[in-house]
Amino acid sequence: MDYKDLIASNLHECTGLDKEQILGLIEIPPKLEMGDYAFPCFVLAKTLHKAPPMIANELMASEELVKGFDGAVTVDAAGPYINFKIDRGVLARNVLTEIYEAEDHYGDRNIGEGKNVIIEFSSPNIAKPFHVGHAFTTILGNSLSNIYSRLGYNVIRFNHLGDYGTQFGKLITAYRLWGDEAAMQENPIDELTRIYVKFHDECKVSPEKEKELEDTARDNFRKLEEGEAEEVALWQRFRDLSLQVFEKTYNRMGIKFDNYNGESFYSPMIPSVVKMLEDKGLLEESEGAKVVKLDDEGLPPCLVVKSDGTTIYASRDLAAVLYRHEEYNFYKNIYVVGLPQQLHFRQVFAVLKKAGYDFADDCVHVGFGLLKFKDNRAFSTRAGNIIKLDEFLDKTTEKTAEIIRKNSELRGGDMTDEQIAEVSEVVGLGAVTYTYLKSGREKDIYFDWDDMLDFEGDTAPYLIYTYARIKSILRKAHDADIINDDFNLASELTAEDEYAVIRSLADFKDAVVKAAESYEPFMISRQISLIARNFNRFYNNSRIINADTQESREARLMLCKAVSYCLKSGLDMLGIGVVEKM
Ligand code: ARG
Repeated sequence: MDYKDLIASNLHECTGLDKEQILGLIEIPPKLEMGDYAFPCFVLAKTLHKAPPMIANELMASEELVKGFDGAVTVDAAGPYINFKIDRGVLARNVLTEIYEAEDHYGDRNIGEGKNVIIEFSSPNIAKPFHVGHAFTTILGNSLSNIYSRLGYNVIRFNHLGDYGTQFGKLITAYRLWGDEAAMQENPIDELTRIYVKFHDECKVSPEKEKELEDTARDNFRKLEEGEAEEVALWQRFRDLSLQVFEKTYNRMGIKFDNYNGESFYSPMIPSVVKMLEDKGLLEESEGAKVVKLDDEGLPPCLVVKSDGTTIYASRDLAAVLYRHEEYNFYKNIYVVGLPQQLHFRQVFAVLKKAGYDFADDCVHVGFGLLKFKDNRAFSTRAGNIIKLDEFLDKTTEKTAEIIRKNSELRGGDMTDEQIAEVSEVVGLGAVTYTYLKSGREKDIYFDWDDMLDFEGDTAPYLIYTYARIKSILRKAHDADIINDDFNLASELTAEDEYAVIRSLADFKDAVVKAAESYEPFMISRQISLIARNFNRFYNNSRIINADTQESREARLMLCKAVSYCLKSGLDMLGIGVVEKM
């Protein structure tokens, strides 16, 4: 049963306020003993011409307020608030029943049924290394995709590859002059980076040299745009090889895309975008370029066609959003791109709106902060060099393996090398993923291996360890044949520590919806971290397998299992795996 929903229905009948509005107002009291839900009466003060505490007192007396609860709720007025306290035993039984039904899909809903949500994320530039900075959009976008799917939306995962632009003229030129086929096979991105850097170095040799190279590059790009077979083939090859490298990382992280339509895909659609803007009288000449003025919106003009006639990033994004709407009639079109591009997206959305496309309001830029290392020396990198994601993941799993091995040795060496490697991959990648998702996305992240791999800290290793610990208890109980899963016994779970776990499990569902609404997976990470803390407190303070009574033992085992389902469900939404043993 959804208590919050029931409370909102009842309040709606008592007050006439809109139910959705009530749902938005209901709070969870700051202290457990105050109750499970609180309704602040301030909104009613104006219409009723009474002070909020008085309203709370009067409402409290209404029988309507507790309809449908079968006596399982007590209502209290505390100043301007009405507090609702659900009977602990009843709450426990309901929450456990619900979790057992959903298993590791606890938190799923069908609120998104029939709605298409496009989530664009990762979007690296081809021929360039995939570095730790790209991991933020990749991990955040993947998590949001998981969350929206689990809420029943039809999610389409887009990777808007940076596969277009004048730099490809340079790459083609550089490849013809200095490309090394063997190196290209071996490590295409390193080789493409090498020749791209060389192109720029050679340009510095003399003005004549620079002119010659730049002219050839421009010529090659023009040929590429005009579809000349040789140039297109080279470009295609750079793209395919780069994508193969990216996909290795995506596979390793368990991330999939439905669509790799990069910028090049939209390029042929630009003339019709330009024509549309011209027909609507929105395009203006400015120093030879064509722009859409956005003075009314308080934004600088959006450049659509450059003075040399070539199109740019923004025009490709305009073409892309029109295509996406045409193809998918999206409910939401979400861009997971760093905050530095905020202005760009504001401009693109404003141009759409000006052109009369109201679906501009369904486009969302989900920005995020920067990645910094707490201690730069922790990763040996030459000055100014970027840190490749793959190397970073390797290093993390290596460090994780050291810890796992040590722990195993302390237990007398109960894990094989193979098990250690498998577990370290899941825990290490989880640790990285969690670090990106544990705080509000707009905050900068400070990476530090000790923090990230702290088995007692707010980390993925801590959560996965808690999960594995529960699985070990359940295995023991299973072997002893003492599991019965009798939900009636759940009403035993009323002690303070047990109630805290139940309460946090009950709140998980709301956290998922809030995470989707605010594009903040950290609402989920925060909730499962709270559940794990509450569980470990309960675990440390209570006997489970050796509980005083059989009823209490069975009830506690059920609670353990419910926590394991919920942790697995939440971690999965974040894009983090679990292990059964570590
Ligand atoms: N490739 C771009 C970059 O690395 C990000 C693309 C963002 N998406 C978009 N639709 N503009 O900066």
